[in-house]
Amino acid sequence: MDQPKNLAREGGHLSVARITDAWYPLAASDELGARPLARKLYGMPLVVFRGADGRPAALIDRCAHRNAPLSAGRVAGGELECSYHGWRFEAGGRCTHVPSLCGDPPKRRVLASFATREEGGLVWAYATPNVEPTREPFAIAPAEAGYTVAIRVVDAPATLHATIENALDVPHTAFLHRGLFRGAGKRNRIRAVVTRAADRVQTEYVGEPRPEGLVGRLLSPSGGIVTHYDRFILPSIAEVEYRIGAENHILVTACGTPVDDFVTRLYAVIRFRTRFPGWLVKLALEPIALRIFGQDAAMLAKQSATIQSFGGEHYTSTAVDLMGPQIWRLMRRAELGRITPGDSTPDGWRREIDLDV
Ligand code: FES
Ligand SMILES: [Fe+2]
Repeated sequence: MDQPKNLAREGGHLSVARITDAWYPLAASDELGARPLARKLYGMPLVVFRGADGRPAALIDRCAHRNAPLSAGRVAGGELECSYHGWRFEAGGRCTHVPSLCGDPPKRRVLASFATREEGGLVWAYATPNVEPTREPFAIAPAEAGYTVAIRVVDAPATLHATIENALDVPHTAFLHRGLFRGAGKRNRIRAVVTRAADRVQTEYVGEPRPEGLVGRLLSPSGGIVTHYDRFILPSIAEVEYRIGAENHILVTACGTPVDDFVTRLYAVIRFRTRFPGWLVKLALEPIALRIFGQDAAMLAKQSATIQSFGGEHYTSTAVDLMGPQIWRLMRRAELGRITPGDSTPDGWRREIDLDV
């Protein structure tokens, strides 16, 4: 076994891919009301507000005049007003008004602006400023009749890659979340089938009995056959789908936003249908889901701290690390411009492995 030459600092590599020709959520639609919001994307401070037509706008969060944060200002008549000297900016980043100035304000665009969309209950921004994108944000499948929908926003103190891998990693669930999801009783051997397309990777788990932990029991007390898919879709979508028996279906689409290299915000759009009323399932599952996420966030924080204290990462993967290496490969290729997000053409690659969970 090789020993690190320098015990303290062996690293260098960080799994940080900056995919800037892509859309990321900056807010849930109902977070964005009359007040501007301060957000960050790849470390860049942005201000999000609703313009004159009610549509979201995103500008760099720095007043062109003297660098005051515009998110500390207010929205007046669909324009953003700086709280320092009252300069006003419209949704496209042009200054429209300078108090006490006789004559016209600067004519050119003075603030970088980011294209926005409002879709699927989320406000999205394109990560490259001052361009009109040629593609649209990831289309979140709308909920069918009879489904309960919830959107939850959570922060993970880790890279986008580590956060998305965590969301789609099955082997840790029986260990870190022992008893809550899997790992309450005996382990089961199941088959994982991994397939890829140009912009995504999917694992289907075949032959999985209903998970024995609390969550599985609540969703389907009588058991049933499980159909389970985990998907990663560029640039930052983690999707988990479960069908248990004929009547229980849960689909979680988590859209990751790289706030900073080591902070990821997840906008989770949750849709489910069970034989119990939606409000009851929400009431019962929400504290457990938050506890599970709390365990994940605490572990991701420790993982990030360890990576930072070593100055880089060191990974050893085995066959059961199904998704992480594939997610990294896709992110890296997208960063280098070798993949177009939205291109879902299968590439013919396929792996099958058995694992005990
Ligand atoms: S700093 Fe914004 S108006 Fe002066
Ligand atoms: Fe987890």
